[in-house]
Amino acid sequence: KAHEMIHVERVGLNGNVGLIKLNRPKALNALCGQLMSELRVALREFDDDDKIGAIILTGNEKAFAAGADIKEMINKDFASTYSGRFLEEWTAVSDTRKPVIAVVNGYALGGGCELAMMCDIIYAGENAFFGQPEINIGTIPGAGGSQRLTRAVGKSLSMEMNLTGNRIDAKQALTSGLVSKVYPTDEVVNKAIELGEKIAAQSPLIVAMCKEAVNSAYEMTLREGLHFERRLFHNTFATKDRKEGMSAFAEKRKPTWTSS
Ligand code: HXC
Repeated sequence: KAHEMIHVERVGLNGNVGLIKLNRPKALNALCGQLMSELRVALREFDDDDKIGAIILTGNEKAFAAGADIKEMINKDFASTYSGRFLEEWTAVSDTRKPVIAVVNGYALGGGCELAMMCDIIYAGENAFFGQPEINIGTIPGAGGSQRLTRAVGKSLSMEMNLTGNRIDAKQALTSGLVSKVYPTDEVVNKAIELGEKIAAQSPLIVAMCKEAVNSAYEMTLREGLHFERRLFHNTFATKDRKEGMSAFAEKRKPTWTSS
């Protein structure tokens, strides 16, 4: 079944970067149920595709996403959100094994900011704005805005954003560590494609292990995380790609990865 609210294509010189574009422009890419389930399916397809080495998630120049769909939420109650596992399927984004790069232009508000933060790397266009305005509509973040934002930018800025809905622009997002790079709006997708190609040129097997190791810094204590990292490092010695990478260095040639 074709997607209606997202656009999916393969990009990069070798076609090994998956690009998913949120495509509900009239509603500023508000993240309704249908959009999120299409996104889940597309992410899974790229994740399971051996030819794809990295995935880019973006919106348009006006909005990455202006949040969860407020009109869809108006008449929900506690029982239906709880029993209906509302927002649980969003975890599909953070469960993706391949690196996911968010490219944010325009608004990344509420669930839009949370969606970007579920990705592994965020690149911002100069016109990007990030915010958690849920407080203005009588609710609080439900997909990481109080957690991932706090870990990314620290308590003071996170509290200010969460308690007031105050937005930060691309520059402040960069200085506070929420995003890794800022580029002109019309260049940022291409910069992300270059980044995706660079990741896709590595061993997919080792990339997945590396992503797991970095994510453990978010999910474990330092002691557990260091232990987990060292074990994963030891595990790379059970792979052909580790042997190939070190041999290629010593022989002054390019490695040929087999993901084994
Ligand atoms: C549903 C939305 C929407 C949203 C915008 N639209 N955001 N619809 N849910 N989150 C719709 C508008 O209703 C409008 O539709 C159209 O998109 C264009 O929006 P305008 O408001 O006319 O555009 P503009 O004046 O440029 O203002 C842009 C904006 C504003 C500042 C981004 O749209 C806004 O404040 N949006 C809501 C932002 C927000 O509160 N996000 C958090 C949502 S709560 P019509 O049909 O009127 O043309 C949330 C909870 C997260 O995300 C919980 C965990 C996921």
